[in-house]
Amino acid sequence: MPPFNCLFQVLSLGLLLLTTILADSNPVSDVRPVSKKQRAACPEDYTPCTCDLTGYGLEVTCSNVSVEDIQDVFFRTQAFRLYSVVLSVSLSPSGSINLPANVLQEKRAENIFVICPPNASPKVGLTVDPATFEFTRFNTTVFAILNCDLSGQTDMQFLNDFSILNTLRIENTLNIESIQSLPTLPALRKLIISGCTGLANAVFPDLTPARLQRLYLNGNGLNDETVNSILVSVGSSSSASSLQELILANDGMTKIPRIASFSKLSVYDVSYNVIPFLSQLTLIFSPPVSLVSLKSISLQAIEGNAFQGDFTYAQVNLENNNLTEFRSDVFLFMLQQMATQPSGTAGEVRVTGNNFKCDCGLAWLIRDNQPLLPRVRNGVCDGFFKFEDLTPNSFQNC
Ligand SMILES: *[C@@H]1O[C@H](CO)[C@@H](O)[C@H](O)[C@H]1NC(C)=O
Ligand SMILES: *[C@@H]1O[C@H](CO)[C@@H](O)[C@H](O)[C@H]1NC(C)=O
Ligand SMILES: *[C@@H]1O[C@H](CO)[C@@H](O)[C@H](O)[C@H]1NC(C)=O
Repeated sequence: MPPFNCLFQVLSLGLLLLTTILADSNPVSDVRPVSKKQRAACPEDYTPCTCDLTGYGLEVTCSNVSVEDIQDVFFRTQAFRLYSVVLSVSLSPSGSINLPANVLQEKRAENIFVICPPNASPKVGLTVDPATFEFTRFNTTVFAILNCDLSGQTDMQFLNDFSILNTLRIENTLNIESIQSLPTLPALRKLIISGCTGLANAVFPDLTPARLQRLYLNGNGLNDETVNSILVSVGSSSSASSLQELILANDGMTKIPRIASFSKLSVYDVSYNVIPFLSQLTLIFSPPVSLVSLKSISLQAIEGNAFQGDFTYAQVNLENNNLTEFRSDVFLFMLQQMATQPSGTAGEVRVTGNNFKCDCGLAWLIRDNQPLLPRVRNGVCDGFFKFEDLTPNSFQNC
């Protein structure tokens, strides 16, 4: 299982809170310079919330603070522009969190995180008034909801007019059907919905005119049908020609969704599903591939020509599967592309945790194409023999 659940367990550790959630939990993360994270005292008192002044600006964290106290904090403080606001609101008497209009008063926050208690069982219901973040709507670039239950939230009007929002994260959250009414977010580049329920009951929103670059939908238990309808929606939106990364790991798929409609896709991750067979022309990439991950999908067989594209620099991950054949009509072309580059930069095919057969099926590689061997990582046959230790001579009679 991927580590997103562990992430939320450290969230309650005060200072770690902000650092942890601003650090991206996903495979391709933005690396921030350490020096920017130096902390200094803030010019104003945000008690009972806390405040740090970092190279990015003011970072305000309200942990287990009531809505009324949060409103009071932003009413009495002057700083107009905040780098981030983390709202871990204390529960109302009914055990839920209900954000009313203008929680931040007229303050502008570049990053907003709404966090329900990570370990609550059942999860805490969250409702957000359409005007909760009204004043910051032209100034917020990142918005996240973590660990909540959105069954009481019937729309997403609270994101109306978020004209520069580039990242929306909904993680570890139940009943996100209201995603269906997601308003137009023209600047959206990264949409992360992970560890959530409810997507299968929603019509995936038409994201046009957004030009999404990253779509992470891991850990939502999505079946083939739901994934297909989501990809049809995204593939017929303005994102078809902008999407670069698609993560569908740890869902409930049994087939690999076709990606031919995405003309910029170079990262595709379907690991931790159960996909025993990969048929021909399943994975057709237009731009040079960076990563294709088929790790831990119980893969038993790959048909010839399943992969098409430029794999010169690609990481092709086939680890922990049940492949018994390493076939030339699947891998030869890809390995030849990789072998045009020096080791440090070239792509590779990782096959750790598969048990190939030591038979004539490997002659094309071991006997006929020794120079390609370094591009295959951790190949083992008959449970014991490393590919690189096999002698070409032993395939003489093949
Ligand atoms: C939040 O505060 C309330 C009282 O203000 C307390 O009972 C509760 O245990 C606190 N929860 C956490 C997670 O600290
Ligand atoms: C918020 O956005 C508006 C519209 O782009 C801009 O005029 C204003 O300066 C921004 N305010 C802050 C505090 O960044
Ligand atoms: C498939 O591979 C996984 C991981 O390598 C292993 O745990 C499992 O037992 C294998 N299943 C079969 C049917 O061989």
